[in-house]
Amino acid sequence: MLAAISKTAFAMLAASPPLRRVASQYGMRRPESFARRFVAGETLDDAIASARTLEASGFQITLDLLGESVSTIEAAADATGAYVSMLGAIDAAGIGRNISVKLSQLGLDIDHATTVDNLRRILDPADRAGFFIRIDMEGSAYTGPTLDVFETVWTIGYRNVGVVLQSCLRRSEADARRVNAIGGRIRLVKGAYREPRSVAYQKKSEVDAAFVSLMQLLLTDGTFPAIATHDPAMLEATRAFARERGVGPDRFEFQMLYGVRRDLQAAVRRDGYGLRVYIPFGREWFPYFMRRLGERPANVGFVVRSLIAERA
Ligand code: FDA
Repeated sequence: MLAAISKTAFAMLAASPPLRRVASQYGMRRPESFARRFVAGETLDDAIASARTLEASGFQITLDLLGESVSTIEAAADATGAYVSMLGAIDAAGIGRNISVKLSQLGLDIDHATTVDNLRRILDPADRAGFFIRIDMEGSAYTGPTLDVFETVWTIGYRNVGVVLQSCLRRSEADARRVNAIGGRIRLVKGAYREPRSVAYQKKSEVDAAFVSLMQLLLTDGTFPAIATHDPAMLEATRAFARERGVGPDRFEFQMLYGVRRDLQAAVRRDGYGLRVYIPFGREWFPYFMRRLGERPANVGFVVRSLIAERA
């Protein structure tokens, strides 16, 4: 319940223009500025530098160019172009070939056909260069349309693409069975958006129970699933189930967010499991950053301390 209220409050604050102005003034300007805790920086060079550091410590990476909810064909084409040039820069930098993309950046608010066309503009060069493209999952209004786009490109024949399912949504078990049946790759998360009771579990205990049962379904029937969480109980449930069923660490991976529970990230690697770190970057970092605060309001403390230090 508290978690749901906090997600709502931070979603409302994310829509506040004055707060956005203060954040954009102070959030990124120095290496120690508060937004840099969760966002690698505003430029691709910043993200590549973070990726290199993480890879040197044995982590794998996925890069996410922040941005969402584009409403014109031109803006969707621009975002697509930015992703295509990102592929070239990643190739040149020699870091891991894995990116995450939100379909509302590519035109999901416009229509299915525009989104499929834009996604294919990314998938074609990505496929030639050996990239994997993960389609992030947004709020529940986008779940059906996002899975429709995924199934369309899968049917066309693309295999270098996967999706995300959220354990908070009541529909996710059916969706997981559908994606498993065609051999698609799923990243399992709890879900970062405030959702109504009609479509989503509201209690943490219910979201966690659904996470465990989806994890078991993916480890048993899925194709190289990604178990994406910082929750020690979910990590332990996954390791225990994998051990019990003889699912080796080569058949799935863990994923965590840049800057979140770095202690756990290191521990998972030390235990011999693959861990991919999701590295967000770009000028549109504010809504992403606010979702991270909404997940853990205690994070506000370090933002306030950092602001005081900036202004001193
Ligand atoms: P939970 O929220 O229960 O937190 C467990 C523990 O983790 C906390 O007690 C705390 O210690 C730590 N923690 C969690 N969040 C923290 C934070 N912000 N700061 C500090 N500590 C924190 N969601 C979505 O809707 N669509 C998507 O596409 C994705 N993609 C995605 C990729 C990857 C790689 C990850 C790890 C997560 C996502 N998410 C996501 C976000 C996800 O839905 C969820 O909101 C967060 O991962 C937080 O949930 P946990 O599973 O970590 O558990």
